[in-house]
Amino acid sequence: MRKVRFVSAFAGGILLGAAAWLLWPHETERSAAELMDVVMWGKEPVGGPFALVDHTGRPRTDADFRGKLLLIYFGFTYCADACPIDLQSMSAAVDKLGPAGDAVQPLFITVDPEKDTPEQLKAYVSLFHPRMVGLTGDPQQIRNVAKAYKVYFAKREPLQATNPNVDHSSFIFLMDREGKYLGFFPPGTSADQIVSVIRPKLASAGAL
Ligand code: NI
Repeated sequence: MRKVRFVSAFAGGILLGAAAWLLWPHETERSAAELMDVVMWGKEPVGGPFALVDHTGRPRTDADFRGKLLLIYFGFTYCADACPIDLQSMSAAVDKLGPAGDAVQPLFITVDPEKDTPEQLKAYVSLFHPRMVGLTGDPQQIRNVAKAYKVYFAKREPLQATNPNVDHSSFIFLMDREGKYLGFFPPGTSADQIVSVIRPKLASAGAL
């Protein structure tokens, strides 16, 4: 009898825990530290198929970008921290490559799809590069693509209504022409550093 009571209390505890976890506001299942560890040490594959909508409202999948090197960054348009700096570096790197830069596609994937509609993304990506593609989707699609890229994101309570905040990983991912993951640039990588890594990859693939 006591054992039964113990088992049912235990099962009840698990159910309560599961319910609390489901109701708790969270975006990614894994912590920022865990995902950073995964990416930094290449512990798990990064990347994979996605189905999203671009800043013109057109459905786009990863397959649409085959044949180009991809620079992929996850963030949100209201971000006042890392996003503008890293997107600027990405864009400057593409320009510094000159004509060879045409073989590089910069992508910006929002982690705040409720606010970052295609229209919102359109105005934002055009601030950085004329060829940058902004991608959004429904919350589940965004969770899926973030999961595939081992990207952490979580909404924080805004300090002010005008200052919404989403914590997020700030790596720039580099994918090859077949969509295979090559590596990442840490936050704050300069355009020149990005160029020096990308240029040999373009040359070896015969793009120059
Ligand atoms: Ni940001």
